[in-house]
Amino acid sequence: MKKEQLSTFKTWFTEYAATFYTAGDDFLNRNILLKECHTHRVCNEMRQLAGALEMKGSDVLLAEVIALFHDVGRFPQFKQYRTYKDTISENHCLLALRVLAEHDVLAELPDDERVVIENAIEFHGARELPLLDERTMHFAKMIRDADKIDIFDLLAANYRILAEEPEKFLWELEFPDTPECSPEIIDALLNRRLIDYHKIRTVNDAKLLQIGWVYDVYFDWSIKQIHDRGYLETIIDLLPKTEQINQVSCHIMDYVQTRIRSD
Ligand SMILES: [Fe+2]
Repeated sequence: MKKEQLSTFKTWFTEYAATFYTAGDDFLNRNILLKECHTHRVCNEMRQLAGALEMKGSDVLLAEVIALFHDVGRFPQFKQYRTYKDTISENHCLLALRVLAEHDVLAELPDDERVVIENAIEFHGARELPLLDERTMHFAKMIRDADKIDIFDLLAANYRILAEEPEKFLWELEFPDTPECSPEIIDALLNRRLIDYHKIRTVNDAKLLQIGWVYDVYFDWSIKQIHDRGYLETIIDLLPKTEQINQVSCHIMDYVQTRIRSD
């Protein structure tokens, strides 16, 4: 991959996103802008991660192309279904692959590069990564980490708004914002088990599930960013001050510290 190819892709992405903005539809426009900005931030995280992993040359560009296109399915998804929930619309990762194919975006790339990009995008939102060849696995892990870092940023900022200025909170809440935390979720966090999305009953459960994502972060550099930028503390601070939450908090922070020290 060459630099010129990356800039051609960036231009295509901007022009493609622009086609979704619709005069008079603020709800749609706000949501399209959210994903457009998210994409640029994930590209930035991806470049930094590639740097931290001492990747060179065309692999760095390949990583950025994956970041640039990973959520390209979000635009048609929101336009058609007016939601980002895959469960009630369709899988946005597969939708991204369809968009890229329909527009022949990756046609000029060599097959091996195109396949890496497609696989990394296909599995970026999967609960767990399937077995892939080592090279594809590396890029698939990178996009999952870069994406998570930015989602942590968005969540921390939005949970703070919900707590401090709820009238400015623009997201739709999927669950009631009541004080309960499910014991099953707390138990899973303390035992480092993946939490099933269906177990969520309250906003606090959702916060706990999201904190548990640290167990699913692949690179120590990414853990360090999540720690150093205070995302975990922000979310933990917005949970009830109970003994159980305190226990979870200590457990998570211990885990994070251990991974940062081994870096
Ligand atoms: Fe994303």
